[in-house]
Amino acid sequence: MPATLGDRMISQMSARGFILLQTAGRLADEMGLPAYAVGGFVRDLLMSKTSADIDVVVEGDGIAFAKLVGRELDGTVQAHHAFGTATITLPDELTLDVATARSETYAQPAALPQVVSGSIMQDLFRRDFTVNAMAIRLNARRFGELVDLFGGQRDVQARRLRTLHAKSFLDDPTRIFRAVRLEARLGFRMDGETLRHCVEAGRQDLPGHLSGQRLCNELRLILLEAQPEKALARLGVLKLLRFVHPKLIWTSGMARRFEMVRAAVDRCRKMETGGPHNLWLVYFMALVEGLTPNAVQDMMQRLALPARDVGQVMAGHGRAATILRGLAKRPAPKPSAIYRALDGLADETVCLLIARASSEAVRKRLLDYRSQYRDVKLSVTGADLKALGLTPGPAYKKILTRLLDARLDGVVRSKADELKLVAKLARL
Ligand code: CTP
Repeated sequence: MPATLGDRMISQMSARGFILLQTAGRLADEMGLPAYAVGGFVRDLLMSKTSADIDVVVEGDGIAFAKLVGRELDGTVQAHHAFGTATITLPDELTLDVATARSETYAQPAALPQVVSGSIMQDLFRRDFTVNAMAIRLNARRFGELVDLFGGQRDVQARRLRTLHAKSFLDDPTRIFRAVRLEARLGFRMDGETLRHCVEAGRQDLPGHLSGQRLCNELRLILLEAQPEKALARLGVLKLLRFVHPKLIWTSGMARRFEMVRAAVDRCRKMETGGPHNLWLVYFMALVEGLTPNAVQDMMQRLALPARDVGQVMAGHGRAATILRGLAKRPAPKPSAIYRALDGLADETVCLLIARASSEAVRKRLLDYRSQYRDVKLSVTGADLKALGLTPGPAYKKILTRLLDARLDGVVRSKADELKLVAKLARL
């Protein structure tokens, strides 16, 4: 008799999520398809945690099934025909990812797999770790039945990460980084054999065959974890950080730096301005702080980082100490001087500076820049200057700069003040 997790689902899930899965099961019955909740959702349920997203697999046409669920629940469905997958977004923003059960074969190590539709058993067998290779039946008469073909539940209890077969890391070396990320997040450990295969995959240089984008995605996912330093420290111990860059070495000082970044970001998040848009980039900047500019460029090229990110990282790299010294000067720099020191830097760089600031006074200057100075705008416009008879040119820019400084420092407060200052500066 298979274990049933129906009661656990009722007690742990939101009523909304539970009803959604029940509805999915009923609609799968209507189509005559076996349907399952799979992967991280099942693992988290067994660990009494709530999952952010739910993945559903059906043995049959996943897209047609998703469309039926979408229609029934007034959701919108985005189908990805090449993969037989679809995302249903419900009116309250809840999303459900649906896939057609499939099996995967790898023509060469580290390549993307060839995919054909298959059974739930094949779909579970293609997965990375036993704890991620479980499913829960959703069809009404068997709702809540656990499908655990590889001992995943036992491994959850033993807090153990185990691959399903010896070639798992060879097929997909991104799993090396996934293993370390999940270990750190869940407080699990790879079992002896899995660890051996993981280290061996590193020895065989398999992550070296990954595309820049895939490697970057794994690093980004690590940097988006609640405590990225845990996974990075483990990568350091397993000598796997070299695949991100040969010069990258993990030290305890870096763990401390990451904690400071987190504290700075938390502080920013509590303010009206909110946290940085790209949290992972703040950690990335902290990670590469000790590397030479050439090494950072190299690393970003290997990771195929978009030009915009490269520009932002390089604009701040190696400048932290100088900028912070400037901000720590006595007497305290005026708002305009703070603005000039930071203008043009990415918000992520400013957050890193907040993390690195050595005193509360300097930190406050940086926070004020983010929340006040950065968005200060002049009331006079180029058209106003023109109307005053000024001809556009370098003098224009000079006047506008002086004007903005005066505004930042509270020397001028209104448009009339600004116009007076323009007249003075231009000696009209
Ligand atoms: N998977 C895999 N190999 C990969 C990536 C994913 O086998 N390289 C499988 C895992 O079984 C995983 C599922 O695909 O459970 C979905 O992947 P993802 O959404 O990344 O995993 P979750 O377990 O949902 O992860 P998270 O908890 O981080 O959301």
